[in-house]
Amino acid sequence: MRVCTVVGARPQFIKEAVVGEALKKYKIEELLVNTGQHYDSNMADVFFDCLSIKIPDYNLGIGSGSHSFQTGTAMIRLEEILIKETPDMVLVYGDTNATLAAALAAAKLKIPVAHVEAGLRQHPKDMPEEINRVVTDHVSSLLFCPTKKAVENLAGEGISKGVHFVGDVMYDLFLKMKARLDVPTILKRLGLEEKRFILATVHRDFNTDNPNRLKTILSALDEITQEIPVILPLHPRTRKAISKNGCEELVKRLQIVEPLAYHEMMALLVGSKKVITDSGGLQKEAYFAGVPALVMMPDTAWIELVEAGWNVLVDAGKGTIVKEALSEGKESKSNAELIYGDGQAGQKIADILTRQAWRI
Ligand code: UD1
Repeated sequence: MRVCTVVGARPQFIKEAVVGEALKKYKIEELLVNTGQHYDSNMADVFFDCLSIKIPDYNLGIGSGSHSFQTGTAMIRLEEILIKETPDMVLVYGDTNATLAAALAAAKLKIPVAHVEAGLRQHPKDMPEEINRVVTDHVSSLLFCPTKKAVENLAGEGISKGVHFVGDVMYDLFLKMKARLDVPTILKRLGLEEKRFILATVHRDFNTDNPNRLKTILSALDEITQEIPVILPLHPRTRKAISKNGCEELVKRLQIVEPLAYHEMMALLVGSKKVITDSGGLQKEAYFAGVPALVMMPDTAWIELVEAGWNVLVDAGKGTIVKEALSEGKESKSNAELIYGDGQAGQKIADILTRQAWRI
C-alpha cells in the first residue's frame, strides 16, 4: 500500500512524527509532501530535525498568503503530484489550509482520504480551521478520531462509516518524549524558576487580527507579568500584529522569545505554573503535562478538558484572564489516558490502514 501524506504547518509536522514512524513499522510506503505553509526555520525545519521526520519527497514552497491563495495554489500543485504518483490513499492531519487543499484535491481525483484528528468541532463556525475540519471530514473515507466526543460529533452530522476512535497522536508523542525533556536546561537558559512563571502563546486570527482583542489580551498579560513572569514564544503572525497596531509598550515587560522547537516547548510547559493560550495543541499538551490552561477562545475543540474543570475558557476578557491566571486554583489530577487513548494512536492508524488495503 502506498500512502501520500500532506503536511504544511507546525502542528502537522508534530503529528507526522508519530504516524510516519508507525507507517514505516507497518511497511506502508509513504510519499511525503510538504506544502510549505510554514517556512521559517523555527516554524518548520527545526521540527523535521528534532523529531527525525523523513525528508519530504516534494516541497511545494507555497508560503504565506490569503486562505484562497494557500488552499488553491496547493490544490493545483497537489493535483499534479497525485496524478503522477497515483497513491492508494491521501493522509491529512488536523485543520490547516494544507489539510483542506490535500483533502479536496484527492477527493476530486477519487483517491480516498484518511483524516487524522477527525470530528473536532468548535464555534465560531466561520473560523478558518473549523471550515477546514468540517469540509475535510465530509470528503474523507477514513476518519481517525482523537476523542469519543469527536466520534459523537461526526455521528451528529450523519458520518459513521469509516470512523475510528484511535486516541490522540499528540498524546503518543508526549508520552514518548516525556522522559527526555530537559526542564532544568531550558529554565536556566531563559532565567526562569520552576513553577514560578506562566507560559503564554497567541496566534489565532480572531485574536491577532482584531486590534481590540489583541490589545486586551496583551494588556492582561502585562498585568499578570507584574505578579509572576510571563514568557511568550512569539508566532510571526502575532509579531507582525503587535508592530502593526503599535502594541510595543504592552509587551515590553513580557519575556518574548522566538518560536521554540518541540522538545524545548514541552520542557518549558512542564516547568510552568500555568498556560495561557489560544493554541489547540498547547491547551491539550498542558493537560498531558499536568499544567492548568486558560484558553483564550470563545469555545474549544477540546471541550472535555473544560468540562473536567482542568482548563478554563477565558476568551479575551481581561478581568477573567488576570483573575484566573493569578488564582491558586483547585487541585485536580489529569487522566489523559481516559480521554486521549492509550498512547498507541499512531499504531492503530497504521493497523487500520493495513487492514483497509485490500479494499483499494
Ligand atoms: C496555521 C493554521 C492553524 C495552526 C497554526 C499553527 C490555518 C488556517 N491555520 O495558522 O490551524 O494552529 O498554523 O501555527 O492553516 N508566518 C511567517 N512564517 C512562517 C509561517 C507564518 O512569517 O513560517 C506568518 C505570515 O505572516 C503568515 C502568518 O504568519 O501570513 C500566518 O501564517 P498561516 O500559515 O497563514 O497561519 P497560522 O496563523 O500559522
